[in-house]
Amino acid sequence: MKDKATGKSYAKIIWFGEHSVVYGQPAIAIPIYSVDVTATLKKIPSGQEIHCRYFDGPISEMADNLRGVKTLTDHLISLFSAQDLSFDLNIESKLPSERGMGSSAATAIAIVRAFFDFFEVKLTRSQLLKLANIEEKITHGNPSGLDSATASSNMPIWFVKNEINEQIDFNLPTSSLVIADSGIKGKTSEAVSLVHDNIVDEPETAKPLIEELGKIAESARDALATTDDERLGKLMNQSQRDLAQLGVSNQTLDTFCQVACDNHALGAKLTGSGLGGCVIALAKNQSDAQQISTALRSAGATQTWIQSFKNYQFSTGEAHDNLVR
Ligand code: MEV
Repeated sequence: MKDKATGKSYAKIIWFGEHSVVYGQPAIAIPIYSVDVTATLKKIPSGQEIHCRYFDGPISEMADNLRGVKTLTDHLISLFSAQDLSFDLNIESKLPSERGMGSSAATAIAIVRAFFDFFEVKLTRSQLLKLANIEEKITHGNPSGLDSATASSNMPIWFVKNEINEQIDFNLPTSSLVIADSGIKGKTSEAVSLVHDNIVDEPETAKPLIEELGKIAESARDALATTDDERLGKLMNQSQRDLAQLGVSNQTLDTFCQVACDNHALGAKLTGSGLGGCVIALAKNQSDAQQISTALRSAGATQTWIQSFKNYQFSTGEAHDNLVR
């Protein structure tokens, strides 16, 4: 056992397939390496404490809105028979919470990694995902597992719930994704229930939309493989129309998509659960990306990031210096 250990994880962006992934359709998601979360676990003289942006104090007194993290931590304490261990768990996150960037999954992944590092036990990716999903099930109700799968990956992934979780390679040397935070909390469990209700109440409208979102993800995989950014942009616009019809967009997200497209974006869509959160826009080059980012800030985005794909070294997982804020 170490005296101090750390675990790291990253933000994720769902490029294609949010919501439809819950119903077995494929999704494409990418980790955003520069927006990270670090969990540090260290021995202290007494107590079991947690420090994060929502809570400072004994783990046993954590608030109900952190029940997912508490349940995960309790599970890890019991897994490592650490009931008598005095420790401090400090979580530092650059991820805005509830913005569709996978903040809770990234936090869970970082905590699991910190515990395994602390107890010097090897951790497999499937173990990591199972443990992180303890938190995700409580925080999000019925998660597809996509958030934790992406937050634990060094590379973009192609994901089908309970079936496929494979890392994909792609080559987009000049394009960038602009990510814009609406500043509005995206309520994942509310949005997931809303889509579920639509499928139950209006299956003839909602089910074809879910299937189309799956087909769009498949076409996007082809477009990524053939460096066809124009097609990717069109597929993003189509996704946005379908997601809006499913009821998970809102006026601000629709406006951001329009502003991005009016400023040379090849396409734009919400990312994550919707009902708030972030919009992503595909830019052909860096100068278009800057223009889109500036226009989105003028339109009210609270924060923007530009993720360039230029130096994405997917084979080594090193894209760390590739994000401009
Ligand atoms: C949330 O980031 C993504 C959703 O597809 C839900 C999920 O996959 O569990 C909306």
